[in-house]
Amino acid sequence: MKSRFGPQKIMFPCPVALVVTGTAERANIVTIAWVSLLTSSPPMLGISVGTRGFSGKEISERGEFTVNIATSDIMREADFCGLTSGRDTDKFAATGLTKMESSVIKAPIIKECPLNFECLLESSTIFGTTNHFAAKIVETHIDNDKLKDLSDYTSIDIERFDPLIYIGGVREYRKAGPVTGKAYSVGNSIKEQQ
Ligand SMILES: Cc1cc2nc3c(=O)[nH]c(=O)nc-3n(C[C@H](O)[C@H](O)[C@H](O)COP(=O)(O)O)c2cc1C
Repeated sequence: MKSRFGPQKIMFPCPVALVVTGTAERANIVTIAWVSLLTSSPPMLGISVGTRGFSGKEISERGEFTVNIATSDIMREADFCGLTSGRDTDKFAATGLTKMESSVIKAPIIKECPLNFECLLESSTIFGTTNHFAAKIVETHIDNDKLKDLSDYTSIDIERFDPLIYIGGVREYRKAGPVTGKAYSVGNSIKEQQ
């Protein structure tokens, strides 16, 4: 048996992205769980941002932002950035999170987040009270101490990274669990039985 609930917004697990807009002098952070890669070539990502908040307007006006992936270490800071608005709060000052210069764009990245994307806005589509921004990834930064091989961006050590995971709908934060299989591989055992 299943229970029906009509159209609902519930999704998990979600990464916790801290999206930064503005400049080194005046930057804002917003917590965004509705984030996804969109295409691989060129690498693009999408974020859904409420039209009523401060950040949506900033992204539309400035055409750029950074996406910084949060870790369990900064759970409280990440939650705070989702409870307050850049209209009346300097979230960098309040949380103590550190701005680092980006390579290509003006919006800074966050030092405490081990994975950072610099993004240039490509398109924006409003659905109801949410603006869906599609953006090109123009640079990617990863902390050296989270990589097993400095020349391979896919060699991230997930235990050391310890990504903060959000369970949408249930409103819980969790940690990543143990490895249970090799992706693009374990399914081959079924293929072989065909
Ligand atoms: C865990 C978490 C996830 C969130 N995800 C989103 C999201 O995906 N999109 C969104 O518009 N707001 C999301 N929010 C709410 C915004 O972060 C919140 O409205 C914020 O205060 C807006 O800040 P701003 O006015 O500085 O832009 C989330 C909040 C939390 C705590």
